[in-house]
Amino acid sequence: MPAFPDDIFTEPEDVDPDTLANLGPLRRLAGGWEGHGGVDINPKADGPETRAFLERSLFQPIDPQANGPQLFYGLRYHIHINTPEEDITFHDQTGYWLWEPATGLVIQTLAIPRGQIAIASGQAEPDATRLVVSAERGRTDYGICSTPFLEHAFRTDSYRLEVEFHEDGSWSYVSDTMLMVRGHTEAFQHRDRNLLTRTSAPEPNPLLRVLAERGEPVVRATLPGEG
Ligand code: HEM
Repeated sequence: MPAFPDDIFTEPEDVDPDTLANLGPLRRLAGGWEGHGGVDINPKADGPETRAFLERSLFQPIDPQANGPQLFYGLRYHIHINTPEEDITFHDQTGYWLWEPATGLVIQTLAIPRGQIAIASGQAEPDATRLVVSAERGRTDYGICSTPFLEHAFRTDSYRLEVEFHEDGSWSYVSDTMLMVRGHTEAFQHRDRNLLTRTSAPEPNPLLRVLAERGEPVVRATLPGEG
């Protein structure tokens, strides 16, 4: 357990309102993305099924968020995935990516409409080109919660996501979700991977837009591939 201050109520003063300028390693995730070469391995009754998928995602900056003295900068994201064969959604996921500049803590929260949520964490340097976050069932901090049916049939024991940022501004990920499928004795490795290229630049966070409307200039650097 990290050392926390005795004063749990006083929030930091002089917080920089510009989220994009304070996102550390998450800066490179900000904006809109598309990937056509996704591969999913999922559990089916007859064994593992491998499917190709198309992914669209959007990661938008939120305002700085204080928990008492703890300060996060972050992105709200939504991922939507289809397959070439079907119009119906193949996978949908939403949540936040958070960065605590004071400690190098990186958090990804995720919610998927199977009735499942997770909060995964890792550590990174501000200029990291690789992020790893993970969560484990049963933990009360960085854990996984599932519906009783999923607990019964597809118990989700762990989740790990590895993100790699590339020089041209694209990024790729590999996610591993370990499932204990009812009737099996060994865990099933539900793996997803994709490479994402930029489709749009991020919007400034809401507070920064308010300040810009009041005439305060919004200046920010662009990243490779941002256009
Ligand atoms: C790109 C990301 C992902 C894709 C494309 C994907 C896709 C799929 C597909 C196609 C299935 C089989 C569904 C079925 O037969 O009804 C499945 C099962 C499952 N997935 Fe994922 N998944 C992804 C990520 C995740 C993540 C991050 C988690 C949890 C942390 C997760 C948890 C599960 C669980 C618990 C099941 C078993 C439930 C079932 O088969 O009905 N998935 N996934």
